[in-house]
Amino acid sequence: MIRVLFNKKGGVGKSSLAVNLAAISAQQGFKTLLLDLDTQCNSTAYLNITSTEGPTIADFFRQTVTFHLHRKDPKEFSQPTGVENLDIIAGSEALAELESELHSRHKIYKLKEALEKLQEDYERIYIDTAPALNFYSLSALIGASHCLIPIDCDDFSRQGLYSLQQQIGEIQEDHNPRLIIEGIIANQYMANANLPKQIIEELTEEGYPVIPQYIGQSVKMRESHQAKQPLITLAPKHKLTQSILGIYEWLEKKPA
Ligand SMILES: Nc1ncnc2c1ncn2[C@@H]1O[C@H](COP(=O)(O)OP(=O)(O)OP(=O)(O)O)[C@@H](O)[C@H]1O
Ligand SMILES: [Mg+2]
Repeated sequence: MIRVLFNKKGGVGKSSLAVNLAAISAQQGFKTLLLDLDTQCNSTAYLNITSTEGPTIADFFRQTVTFHLHRKDPKEFSQPTGVENLDIIAGSEALAELESELHSRHKIYKLKEALEKLQEDYERIYIDTAPALNFYSLSALIGASHCLIPIDCDDFSRQGLYSLQQQIGEIQEDHNPRLIIEGIIANQYMANANLPKQIIEELTEEGYPVIPQYIGQSVKMRESHQAKQPLITLAPKHKLTQSILGIYEWLEKKPA
């Protein structure tokens, strides 16, 4: 099961949800990997890993454009986190300078091959992406089986979804027919305002798979980032944690 968190819109909760869903998955006993494909390295920092020490995803991609007698197994780029059962392939700022070379040398299927291999070691893989359809997020959408789209329930989010759906449709057609939009995650949902409710209703009517468990706004999210601890270990009983757990359970329980 390879899930990519993706939205071209920034700040909608991709990194926060990638880390927290991965941590819940690990806590539930699944051998889980988080892969950080964003040069911002937010999910890497959230799990208290520094991109300057230890291997990163940039080392993996660099290996695909340099000559090696013995290529490293993709697993060798992962490292453990403070959460039991959860490993990470750390993000790196160096992805930025590698991007044009990878693109010009047609390395777009390299991540897919690596993910297939990584599935031998990990039952669940969560991928965090940058807020753009760049080489890396495209690679992830080509290699993943499921796409989760967090939105922040405003009109820009809705507009963004229409173009996102088209682009994902093209990726399905050209590269990855097994990719499905598994769910739209309503994040920072304000239960007592009308607009978010209306947007969710309209998206549902239009056939978008909005997950029927919304995530409210809470300062606990920022506290969790600062503590460098996922919510499931920092505040397991908190409402925010419980709503993300609700998303997790919906994802795991729904019929395949
Ligand atoms: N449910 C929430 N309640 C309160 N704050 C939240 C919530 N979800 C996310 N945030 C805050 O919103 C900001 C953006 O979240 P996050 O970094 O997870 O989004 P992102 O989509 O990964 O952003 P980017 O596009 O820059 O990668 C962060 O400061 C985070 O703390
Ligand atoms: Mg992010």
